[in-house]
Amino acid sequence: MYVSPWPGLTIGDVFGKSEIGKMPYPFDATSRTAFHVARGGIFHLFRALAFRPKETVFAPDYHSGSEVAAIHAAGARTILYPIARNFEIDMDAFRCLFKRHTPRAVYVIHYLGWPQPIEEIARLCIENECVLIEDCALALLSCLGKRPLGSFGDYSVFCLYKTLPVPNGGMLVQNRHRMYNLLNLRLDPCPPAAVAGRCAELALEALRSRFDLTGKALFSLKQSIGRRMRSAGVKHAPVGNLAWNINLVNLAMSPVSDRVIKGLDYSSIREKRRANFEHLQQRIGDRVCMPRRDLPEGMCPLFFPVLVRDKRATAQALRRKGVEAVEFWSDRQKPAGISPDAMFLRDHVLELPIHQGVNSSQIEFIADEVLRLNPEPPC
Ligand SMILES: Cc1ncc(COP(=O)(O)O)c(C=O)c1O
Repeated sequence: MYVSPWPGLTIGDVFGKSEIGKMPYPFDATSRTAFHVARGGIFHLFRALAFRPKETVFAPDYHSGSEVAAIHAAGARTILYPIARNFEIDMDAFRCLFKRHTPRAVYVIHYLGWPQPIEEIARLCIENECVLIEDCALALLSCLGKRPLGSFGDYSVFCLYKTLPVPNGGMLVQNRHRMYNLLNLRLDPCPPAAVAGRCAELALEALRSRFDLTGKALFSLKQSIGRRMRSAGVKHAPVGNLAWNINLVNLAMSPVSDRVIKGLDYSSIREKRRANFEHLQQRIGDRVCMPRRDLPEGMCPLFFPVLVRDKRATAQALRRKGVEAVEFWSDRQKPAGISPDAMFLRDHVLELPIHQGVNSSQIEFIADEVLRLNPEPPC
């Protein structure tokens, strides 16, 4: 059996029904701009905000690196605030830092769909005339109660390809203080070969999830064709790669992504992810260490996170069995000045797939393999 880390693309996703009625947030937001990747939105937003040398942005010390690189590339300076071992902002430390530095902007990441105390942060920002940006790269379709994450801040960013079967897509939403130049950016189209290549990969992920050996053989073939095309100079535009690359920020989302997005059934995506999370929780919840176990109303989980002593070895062992776990974020990317808790998360969080393409026998399979492996907890 094979379980892909991301949802695969099926014919039905591309050519399925295209009118599903009202689209959920952020797709129904009035002011939104779609980029190849979310970094494009972050970079252009911070450039438009035009930070002066003394002004600062508060950013969490547990981050992917790519969002902070985009903020820096746009000319803004960051001060890191600490994230606790349960993915939550340490609000006492946050308030202290806030009083000391009075930042011009606060950048909040909602990890894996769990909402941060965003109402309290939004109040603090309004009282201090501070710009609030919500990073929902890992929290598309998640709500705090009934209100979508991303709708609390002045601006929000989403990474569409992490939750949906699309070849690319990052979205910048402007809820307040709209800057019209951000709605009319001249973005270049994403190279067609890159879009076609990523669509092929996603289609093969879907195929391999059903027919492991055929999918695997076709996947290797696709990879060798991709390598040949790149060495022949065909333009490439990676997604999911955390390295900073300024060339990606001026690329638009592809028409294929736009087509797929218009035809998806979002409530069943959220329900399936929640059901898979609960199913895996029932099977292994009391046998593994987790950063947090709750599944609050409205949350759309991105992955099922577990804490393991040796994340690389555990990921490799699971991969050998056919379960693609994601190392979140690599322990090689440890920026300076991060707290012991953020260091702990980098060292030990491993994510198990529970996306909408995973069926219940695959959840059983993941559970069996994790229990068989019985990974050592971090402490
Ligand atoms: C929290 C967070 N923000 C922003 C990004 C950037 O997303 P993209 O790869 O679409 O540029 C990522 C990427 O992993 C992320 O994890």
